[in-house]
Amino acid sequence: MSQWVRSLMTHDEIRTWLEEDRSEQLDRLWARANAVRRENVGDAVHLRGLIEFSNHCVRTCGYCGLNSTNRRIQRYRMTADEILDCAHAAASYGYGTVVMQSGEDYGISALWLADVICRIHRETELAITLSVGERPLDELKRWRDAGADRYLLRFETSNRDLYDRIHPPRAGQDRSDRFELLRQLREIGYETGSGVMIGIPGQTYDDLATDIEWFGRLELDMIGVGPFIPHPAGPTALLPPAEEGQVPNTEQMAYKVVALTRLLCPASNIPSTSALATLNQTEGRELGLQRGANVVMPNCTPTRYRALYDIYPAKACVDETAEQCLHCLRARIASIGRSVGEGRGDSPAYINRLATT
Ligand code: 5AD
Ligand code: FES
Repeated sequence: MSQWVRSLMTHDEIRTWLEEDRSEQLDRLWARANAVRRENVGDAVHLRGLIEFSNHCVRTCGYCGLNSTNRRIQRYRMTADEILDCAHAAASYGYGTVVMQSGEDYGISALWLADVICRIHRETELAITLSVGERPLDELKRWRDAGADRYLLRFETSNRDLYDRIHPPRAGQDRSDRFELLRQLREIGYETGSGVMIGIPGQTYDDLATDIEWFGRLELDMIGVGPFIPHPAGPTALLPPAEEGQVPNTEQMAYKVVALTRLLCPASNIPSTSALATLNQTEGRELGLQRGANVVMPNCTPTRYRALYDIYPAKACVDETAEQCLHCLRARIASIGRSVGEGRGDSPAYINRLATT
């Protein structure tokens, strides 16, 4: 049993909050989410250095610019030494974690990645998070054994039809079951994270309320949500919106989801995401942190690769260096009276689970 008091909210209550537009009501929601965040995960903001180490991808996701049908981007894979350099830089900036993210790239062999993980593990104190898509169980286990601590795999939407439309199965393969994969990741011992996009064409308020209910049900340690940002190379931009109750992909909607997620999952780590910062470069990150989030993910990818990791257009921080992002984020965190977290920043939800199993 969790020691934290989860808000008990019905599906209809969640949906009503998602549909709420009165600013005085929303101010109540922000204040409650902020208080629950403070009580459960404190004022520290944990920094995760993001290394986007390959933009190759076998998938054909309609929402993502890295999809394999996009012939217009130049593909890259960082070398092991380049990744190690980034990890050392992240450690020197005081980050407690590196997040190694890539497309679903089978050019990255299990053995090669295990070796990189081992080296980071041996040479630094960093916690290692993987975000490399759906891979076979034996590979996920091998990376865990090599020293990877956490795994991120967003389920994107709990509406199965919508999911299949935006995330077609690979040729000759079964449709994936990300809920099952998340369960397996947890069983292997990963601190497990997931999340969704907000405002996918065809996504209704009911869908999004169900997504948020799933966050609680899956007992996720980390939950990342962000607005869907149409990519010109993704056919999703052309899909018609849901006939009734289409969720808008707005900044406001993203804050509502962050706040409700905090209420339902009080002890999870919740980032204020780059997609949010992309919609509001001035203060999107800060507002996310003041409405339930407690993590940010400064980009540590070498500048020459950043623009090529083109998931969606006009991504924040494409022209900055890792060091500029470090200073920028420190200043932003200080400006809202919060502190930078020390150490690995494991989620209290995970620590509690370890202690009780
Ligand atoms: N808009 C917003 N988020 C996106 N992602 C991928 N493409 C887009 C987009 N066009 C998110 C997905 C994925 C994560 C790495 O980035 O949720 O899981
Ligand atoms: Fe990269 Fe602000 S975080 S420039």
